[in-house]
Amino acid sequence: MDDLFKKLVSHCKEYGFIYPSSEIYDGLSAVYDYAPNGVELKNNIKTYWWKSMVQMHQHIVGLDAAIFMHPKTWKASGHVDAFNDPLVDNKDSKKRYRADQLIENFLDKLDEKINKEVEKAQKRFGNQFDEKLYRETNPRIQELKTKWIQVNDRLVKSMSENDMAALKQLIEDCEIADPDSGSRNWTEVRQFNLMFNTQLGNIAGEEGKLYLRPETAQGIFVNFLNVQKTSRLKIPFGIAQIGKAFRNEIVARQFIFRMREFEQMEMQFFVKPGEEMQWYAYWKSKRMAWHLALGTPAHKLKFHDHENLAHYANAAVDIQYDFPFGFKELEGIHSRTDFDLKSHQELSGKKLQYFDSELNENYIPYVVETSIGCDRMFLALLSNAYTEESVPDSEGEASTRVVLKLHPAIAPVKCAILPLLKNKPELVDKAKRIFDDLKFTFLCQYDDKDAIGRRYRRQDAIGTPFCITVDFESLENDTVTIRERDSLKQERVSIAAIEKIIGDKISWKTLFEN
Ligand code: GAP
Repeated sequence: MDDLFKKLVSHCKEYGFIYPSSEIYDGLSAVYDYAPNGVELKNNIKTYWWKSMVQMHQHIVGLDAAIFMHPKTWKASGHVDAFNDPLVDNKDSKKRYRADQLIENFLDKLDEKINKEVEKAQKRFGNQFDEKLYRETNPRIQELKTKWIQVNDRLVKSMSENDMAALKQLIEDCEIADPDSGSRNWTEVRQFNLMFNTQLGNIAGEEGKLYLRPETAQGIFVNFLNVQKTSRLKIPFGIAQIGKAFRNEIVARQFIFRMREFEQMEMQFFVKPGEEMQWYAYWKSKRMAWHLALGTPAHKLKFHDHENLAHYANAAVDIQYDFPFGFKELEGIHSRTDFDLKSHQELSGKKLQYFDSELNENYIPYVVETSIGCDRMFLALLSNAYTEESVPDSEGEASTRVVLKLHPAIAPVKCAILPLLKNKPELVDKAKRIFDDLKFTFLCQYDDKDAIGRRYRRQDAIGTPFCITVDFESLENDTVTIRERDSLKQERVSIAAIEKIIGDKISWKTLFEN
């Protein structure tokens, strides 16, 4: 899996998806730039999300709030006081870690040990093996499970009580060592605020302190009444937004999984108090369906309930994806109560209440939020799409190809137009005319360099779903071959039919109807 992840990272660079930021200066830690194919894929992910939220829901509207907000916003939201991660340094290696993640990794190792015990027994007992019974009765597994529960309970308790000394004690009791150096020489655990700050204009000191937003959601909360009134919306309704967020992550070592500058796609759904749990269930199922519609297999996605709730939530769940480094959070669905609107009302002194004409009363709505990182979605899709497989080459011999099996609607380039031979002006002219016609509808690429087989491989590597080849028969009867990326099937079709054939396969309508 480590190997797959390394290949994916280098594929992203080689095929123009992602570059390290300011690479000529050796890059900037956990900051990345989206390259020509990457920006297309990312834009398609954003379009898919935006259409599914705003276009497909009559009661959800969009917003694009500024990154800078009044500093009091972050006091009210709790981020100034509570948006912290527990930080611990190893005195020998000088490496910095998140204390909670060190303990979570320890828990993962206990899980691995349990699974290994089960695998061993499975081999020993063969067909007679009753896994459930074995897990419930084997003394070694019981011992590991008890340990897991004890450590997890202590982790949840110390995190929810902000007890840094208890976290340090837990690291020592579990004898957790620095994964790099093996040293157990740790500093005290201390809180580290994740917000970046900067200074406003010429105002010095605390007065002029501005934060780069750590989530886009607050731009929605402070605009809640503006949007409700100008859009004449009735509860329940939602506000959707896509935008940059910034977090000074302590550990950011997994490519675009954990970045310091990233993009969020968030939607806050405002509901009547008391109805939040029914909407929470609704959005859980809607969001899972959104992921599955792209063809991501169900076994690679799962729900994971939060045990350690954020300061604003009364229920929270992650949709986790099976990344090459294990199941990790891809999206969060949070029931945020009335925490944010109430705090903003208190600190600003401005009423943020909704007048419910059916009940004839004012109240502060409750909020159910869906929040997904665009970059994480990008990584999940690429991890799922990246495939190395053996295919016959043009002489019928087996050769290997790397292909990105992305859903056609989100693939960066929709079709490539390839004249069979570069040195035949009739083929080149015809291919260029097809390109000039199709470019009004899709993002196409024209390519006449190298042998046709190599050109196919180049398109496979960036996930282009269709390759159109212009050959000598094209000159006689205005037909071309259209090659489908995954099945490798080639079909001869008339040039006039290309737009409709590809259009149907890549259309958002087809995706939504599915
Ligand atoms: N408004 C709620 C909120 O921000 P979150 O769970 O902290 O909740 C939501 O973040 C999503 O944003 C995550 O599920 C993840 O996809 C993405 N995300 C968070 N931190 C990130 C980071 N450092 N790099 C990339 N994506 C991140």
